Amino acid sequence: MLRTPFKLECEADYRRWRDAKRASQPRQAQDLLVEVADPRALSAAEQQALLQRCATANMALYRSPLRDADKNLPRQLGRQLGLHRLDGNWLADEDGISQIEVAAPDGVGQRGAFIPYTNRPIKWHTDGYYQPPARPIRAMILHCVRSASSGGETALLDPELAYIAVREANPDWVHALMASDAMTIPERLDDDGVARAAQAGPVFSVDPQSGALHMRYTARTRSIQWKDDAPTRAAVAFLAQLLRRDALPVLRLALEPGMGLVCNNVLHERTGFVDDPQQPRLLYRARYLDRIQAPARPSVATT
Ligand SMILES: [Fe+2]
Repeated sequence: MLRTPFKLECEADYRRWRDAKRASQPRQAQDLLVEVADPRALSAAEQQALLQRCATANMALYRSPLRDADKNLPRQLGRQLGLHRLDGNWLADEDGISQIEVAAPDGVGQRGAFIPYTNRPIKWHTDGYYQPPARPIRAMILHCVRSASSGGETALLDPELAYIAVREANPDWVHALMASDAMTIPERLDDDGVARAAQAGPVFSVDPQSGALHMRYTARTRSIQWKDDAPTRAAVAFLAQLLRRDALPVLRLALEPGMGLVCNNVLHERTGFVDDPQQPRLLYRARYLDRIQAPARPSVATT
């Protein structure tokens, strides 16, 4: 049996991991920030600093002097963090990288009908919560080219901390949220406008190979069906309340031009914003089927 702190039966592993996790958590967004000269070509020290923060907190932030609208940047950065398998959706461009900006409601693909492409707030979620189980979004890069004239702040929360909070409150709720039918997205509409069939799946799941925790979640109440039993209802209410109250160490920041987030698809929300029409907010977003890890290096002789 794969031993991982995320299985309910591995209680001793869980306790050890939980204590270490709590002791090593960043308290503010600044703790996750790495100054980077060029995200497309990291130095070994910059790469290590980003990987180390992702290992501790499932996310890292970088700040660079780059102001160019270079859509290749997320892809080049991702490769240096072990991210290769981009997931495309029909609103992403052909290269699989989405431009997150306010779009006209009747524009290309009617992107403006979906919340990410408006200036409205976006509630807590992980990306691609509507994905089929075989294609989970394990990592995500968000790179800021231009920020809003006001608002558009991001809040971030490591899903492992949400897991700890639920398990400490009631292990039965973890069990309920791991059920393969805990959360169902009805067919068709979601925030990103991705056309798809109804998708049932767990909130928390454990990768059978790596033992890593994966979380699917949305705080939205429309276009989502929770399993209709008492433990699931209680667990979902607990999670929603946890996020509303900021009871956990939520990290808040405003991405500035040249800055970005690399993460193992952490929980996030966005406040509404006001654009400068001359310089509208523009973010690039890349979603991956891989988790962040040190890229494979050429093997070195050890004899
Ligand atoms: Fe998102």
